[in-house]
Formats: sequence, C-alpha cells, structure tokens
Amino acid sequence: MVASRSQLTSWQALEQQAQELKSAHLKQLFAQDADRFSTFSLEIPGVLFDYSKQLITTSVRDSLIALAEQCELGQWRDKMFSGEKINFTEDRAVLHTALRNRAKTAVMVDGQNVTEQVETELAKIKVFVEKVRSGAWLGYTGKAISDVVSIGVGGSNLGPQMATEALASYADDTLNVHYVSNVDGVQIAHVLKELNPETTLFVVSSKTFTTSETMTNAGTAVQWLTNASGDEAAIAKHFVAVSTNLEKTAAFGIADENVFTMWDWVGGRFSMWSAIGLPIALYLGYDAFIDMLEGAFEIDQHFQQAPLSENIPVLMGLLSIWNTSFLDHRAQAILPYDQALHMLPAYLQQGEMESNGKSVNFAGQAVNYTTVPLIWGMTGINGQHAFYQYLHQGTTIVPADFIGSVQPQHDVDDHHTILMSNFFAQSEAMMNGVDADEVRADLQAKGLSEQRIEELVEHKVHQGNRPTTSIILDKVDAKAVGRLIAMYEHKIFVQGIILEICSFDQWGVELGKGLAKNIESELRDNRVGEHDSSTRGLMAYYQAKRQ
Ligand code: F6P
Repeated sequence: MVASRSQLTSWQALEQQAQELKSAHLKQLFAQDADRFSTFSLEIPGVLFDYSKQLITTSVRDSLIALAEQCELGQWRDKMFSGEKINFTEDRAVLHTALRNRAKTAVMVDGQNVTEQVETELAKIKVFVEKVRSGAWLGYTGKAISDVVSIGVGGSNLGPQMATEALASYADDTLNVHYVSNVDGVQIAHVLKELNPETTLFVVSSKTFTTSETMTNAGTAVQWLTNASGDEAAIAKHFVAVSTNLEKTAAFGIADENVFTMWDWVGGRFSMWSAIGLPIALYLGYDAFIDMLEGAFEIDQHFQQAPLSENIPVLMGLLSIWNTSFLDHRAQAILPYDQALHMLPAYLQQGEMESNGKSVNFAGQAVNYTTVPLIWGMTGINGQHAFYQYLHQGTTIVPADFIGSVQPQHDVDDHHTILMSNFFAQSEAMMNGVDADEVRADLQAKGLSEQRIEELVEHKVHQGNRPTTSIILDKVDAKAVGRLIAMYEHKIFVQGIILEICSFDQWGVELGKGLAKNIESELRDNRVGEHDSSTRGLMAYYQAKRQ
C-alpha cells in the first residue's frame, strides 16, 4: 500500500528543497552553471522542450523523479495503456491512446479488442469524409455540401475547434466549417444567417446525446432545415451524429448509418482523436486527421519508453506539481506565440481543470496540498499588451508556458522574426528581471536628474525569477498539433497520479448539467420557486423586465 503522498520521503525532501530555494534567484542559477540549458532541456523529433528557466536544481529534479517512482507512475501509465479500468469512480478504462494506436496492436477491454473497433470507425470516417468532400454526398435538392456546422460543447467542441483553427492554413476551399457550442441563440443565429440549408451538413457531437445546450442547438438546426425543405426526410441528408448513445440518436431522427460511434472509455476532453474529430477531417481531409493521430502516437511512445528524467510529459507534470504544491504558485499561464494556437489556452483549461480541479484523493479523503493551478492565457503578443504587466511586476508569481514555432505557417516579410523576438525577450525578462542598479544606469544614460531617478527607480524594478517553460515546435502542422496536445494530455495524467486525483471523472461539471433544470421550468411558467432571497430577487427582476 503506497503511503499518503505527503508522507513519502521524496515529498518531504521536496518540501525542504522548496524552503531552501525560496531565497534563490533564477538569474544566480544561470550564472552558476553555464550549461544550465543543456542540463534542463530535451529535444525529440519536432519539439524542443526547455525547462531551464524553472526554479529547480538537479537535486530537485532527482527528488521529483523519486516522487514519480514512489507513486508508481510507470505502473499506472502501463495500466492506462493496457485498458485497465483506472477511471474507477465511473468504472471505465481510459483509452484515448487506443484511438491513435498507429501500431494497431490489440488492446482489450471487457473481452473486446478496441483497436479493431477504432479501425472500423476510422474506415467509416474515411469513406464519409471522401463522400462529402468529393461532392458525392448530396443534400435534399441534390446539391453538394459546402458548409459543415459542428454542434457540441465542452470536449465535444473545444478539441475540434482548436485543431480547426490551428490548421486552417492548410485547408482547401472544399468545405467551410462552423462551430456552435453556446446555447445563447446569438451564436447559432449568427452562423445560420450566412448558410444555405440545401448545402449545409450538421454534425451533432455529444457523447451522451443528452446535453441540453447541444440538444437545443440541434433542435433549432432541424427547425431551420425543415422550414426550408418542408419535409422531415431532409434530416437524413443533412444530419450526422457522433455519440455513444444510439438510442438517443435514433430518437432524434438520425439513421444508424449516419451515426459515428465513440466509446465510454474515451473521456470527452480527450476525444478529439475519435469521431468527435470528424469536423477536422471534413475540413482538412482524412490524411491530415491521420497525421494528427500519428503525431500524438509519437508522444505516446515517448511517454511509454523514455526514462522518467528524459520524458517530456513526465517532466511537465512534475514541474507543475513543483510550482503549485511546493512553491505555492496557484496559476499557470499558457502563452502561444503562434496565432494558429490561439484556442490552446481555452482547450487546456478544460483539459487540466476539468481533469484535476479536485480536492480529494483516490480514497476520497481531502488532500493537504494544492492540486492544480488555475489555467489561463492567450496568444503571447496580445497578452503582452494586456496582462503581462501583472506577470512581470504583480505580487503573484504565475509560471508560464511559452509555445512557439521555428517556421511560420505563412512567411510574410519579417513577421515571424519579430514574433519570436518577443517570445525570447519576454521569457528572458521574466527570468532575469531588472534590478535597481540596471534601472539607475538606464535612467542616468537618459540624462535624468538624481532626484527623478530615485523617484522612479522602485517603480521600474522587475524582480524577475518568474518560472517559465519554452516549447518550440518545428511548425504548427497536423503532426505538431497531435504531438503538442498529447504532451499536455499525459502531463494531466502525471499530475493526477502523483496528486492522487481521479482525473477522468467530472462530477463538478455533471452537477452543473442538472442545476438549471428546475429554474428553467420556473422561468417558462413565469414563477419563482423556493430559493435564497438573492436568487429570488434576480429572477423576479428578470421576469418583470421580460413581460
Ligand atoms: O462540459 C462538461 C462535460 O461534461 C464535458 O466533460 C463534456 O465534454 C461535455 O460536457 C459535453 O458532453 P457531451 O459530449 O455528452 O454532450
């Protein structure tokens, strides 16, 4: 029986090391070791991973690796890949890796070889994608499809939309893809306004096919189509579904052959590799979708085979734990210096926070450490002109991931050089800071009086010592997206195992799915039920104004 995490010798060593490092500065660590970059960076095909600007030493890394070993991380990883039901609160296997198992080796769950199921579904996706993209799939008036509207929310939206945005530079003119996730009718109204029902195909993606937002949007889409076609027979030509729930898809009116399957061993936020990724394949072609799976598969192999100390997802997870649970930094910024990755922060918010934003361990006991940080961010350049002030001089230290690429998707003059200059300069400044002597020298050189210099100096000091990781991709293409997302997925797994968090359920979000139901019926009946005085007051105000 493994001891509670904070009783492990490695955990206690890390607590001690965190105390010692509180007085250290990254700048000194770089000054003391000319080889710090090579000590704390790794290169694998298509990815450079530099964690030398994290506040660690080799002995901290050794203790982190010892922690991983004492938590039996390797054994847990093998259980996940082999299909053991490690999502024990839902009694499910966790096999998003089987969706991209390009070696096609058998993986068994409940006596079934899921690899065969995945291959069958991929073949179906291929045929369908080719039919739609070639113009052979016809709408109710015999016209080819020009636009795809993907309806889904959370894991049934964020992955496909993030990847679509990331890879838009590679799309041809065959199809446009639009996303509707919000139940706010503004979004679907805005999308449908531009479209022709005769040439629009809806992909309704919902693992459960019960999510109210998705079902409401799908209902509106059906209405829009049948208003135009005057005939429900059109639904079969304009709606396909991705779901585990064949009963519900049939009840909705979607023929079984137009339903793409996923399985309960795929978590919603890990599902873009399944048929949930259908909009990606429709937009970019089946081969690009496979490239994305290939990129993820490379990382799966790296995660399974590389020694823990040279294993990028393992280090990502351990560094997050070091920053959060030991150094007490409670937020983490995701800063892509690549416009193509502009949805990455939103995608990783769900990935990390829905997975590990929890506070009890495997045994259901409250943990006595901070679990995962608040994840936030936006593209680096836009962030620089918005919240970087806080990152540089705020009272809270926010570790950050900088993500950039060697080659831009579009080479326009020297844009990429300017972009990446900012990447290097910002992470360097967050590490080094600017001390009072440097500020004084700068202001003296500018000819300011001694009095003015003293007035300004503390305002212009930057403490530095802000930990960052830099990830440089070759170029944001389908393989790179696959690699990057798989790296973060496995990071999340590592965090979960080490912190003893059940990463693959989401009871907090499930709660939200039911919460609005009672109030919805009260609003429909124009009445206010039993609530606290604030909720009653708010509802009464809203209802009065809606009269
Ligand atoms: O957003 C909460 C959640 O439960 C996610 O886990 C899931 O990805 C999303 O709802 C959508 O659920 P479904 O695919 O069943 O519609």
